Amino acid sequence: MNFIRFSDLCAQGLAKGQRVFIRADLNVPLDAYGRITEDTRIRASVPCIQMALDAGAAVMVTSHLGRPVEGEFKPEDSLAAVAQRLGEILKRDVPLVSNWADGAGVVSVKPGEVVLLENCRLNIGEKKNTETLARKLAALCDIFVHDAFGTAHRAEASTYGIAQYAKTACAGPLLAAEMDAISKALTNPRRPLVAIVAGSKVSTKLTILKALANNVDQLIVGGGIANTFMLAAGLNIGKSLAEKDLLAEATAVIEAMKARGAAVPIPVDVVTAKTFSATATATIKAANDVADDDLILDIGPQTTAILAAQLMAAGTIVWNGPVGVFEFDAFSHGTEGIARAIAASRAFSIAGGGDTVAAIAKYSIAHQVDYISTGGGAFLEVLEGKTLPAFDILQQRAAG
Ligand code: 3PG
Repeated sequence: MNFIRFSDLCAQGLAKGQRVFIRADLNVPLDAYGRITEDTRIRASVPCIQMALDAGAAVMVTSHLGRPVEGEFKPEDSLAAVAQRLGEILKRDVPLVSNWADGAGVVSVKPGEVVLLENCRLNIGEKKNTETLARKLAALCDIFVHDAFGTAHRAEASTYGIAQYAKTACAGPLLAAEMDAISKALTNPRRPLVAIVAGSKVSTKLTILKALANNVDQLIVGGGIANTFMLAAGLNIGKSLAEKDLLAEATAVIEAMKARGAAVPIPVDVVTAKTFSATATATIKAANDVADDDLILDIGPQTTAILAAQLMAAGTIVWNGPVGVFEFDAFSHGTEGIARAIAASRAFSIAGGGDTVAAIAKYSIAHQVDYISTGGGAFLEVLEGKTLPAFDILQQRAAG
């Protein structure tokens, strides 16, 4: 992907004295008291802000928080807690500026200073990306830096419109890293390319499965999705979660893969229980031996070993979703085996999605995965084969 990198502009001294507007994704979870419960996204946004400050720019940062009603400020929509946390990490005061779209509180920002602009989704016209708002935002800066991969699938005024009209529009280090990792994994992958797509429902990931069926060499399915594929392969899955109305779609994915000489590996053994519970007795069974009152809660050890061998031999791995109920220890071994194989594999590996990131943390393999995406919906849309609006506009601007 050809796009302008903010790091290059800084290295060339082109950000010095400039008004730099950074769109970050600081949409972090808050508890009932408005306290941040998880700050990964804030920490991930700091390198870009620090880069702009080090380059001598006057820095404005904004983000959305939740989905507020435009024009109707409520205290719970405020980025106040984020400003404080950002200040602690940057070890400097980060003033929070409200009602900023017309330039109030922004014009006074000096080179070497940073302010946080209150929740950008409070601006009227943000969601619909109105030209009026987009032009106003663009007028606030000399350089627009998109560093919010988590919102790269949204075409809003602060993510898309501003990039159309700003003098310069470029990708910050976080977005650039995501764009590089995605290109490496999906556009020009080292083969074999193995994808793991797991989750409770085929329906939520059907477009991903279809898109990947045209590209990957092995499509490993897990969780409720695997149950539907097992059913499509003629196996009994007992009372396990599955979507019977999507059997034809699952069969079509299997056939599409076969036609390309690729495969959807169907589990040869599974771990079952009679109830969905952390204390339920786990029983390993051959995949063709599942009883009518069984629930499949994990892949079995033989399947784990087969898949681990495929992952070890892979050139590229894309991981989205745990293959079993890894929150329950007795049903966590499949996901742990997959995680350890990804960690040990020499393949270029990229992972994303809330549950996947939780599994990576549980098995402490973050340092052995080449790239962990910060995007939720954005990462899924990439897997669906969509061109994200952020990637699209930044490439257009780079092309002149
Ligand atoms: C996310 O949490 O996935 C991103 O911040 C995007 O949020 P949104 O779905 O409200 O656009």
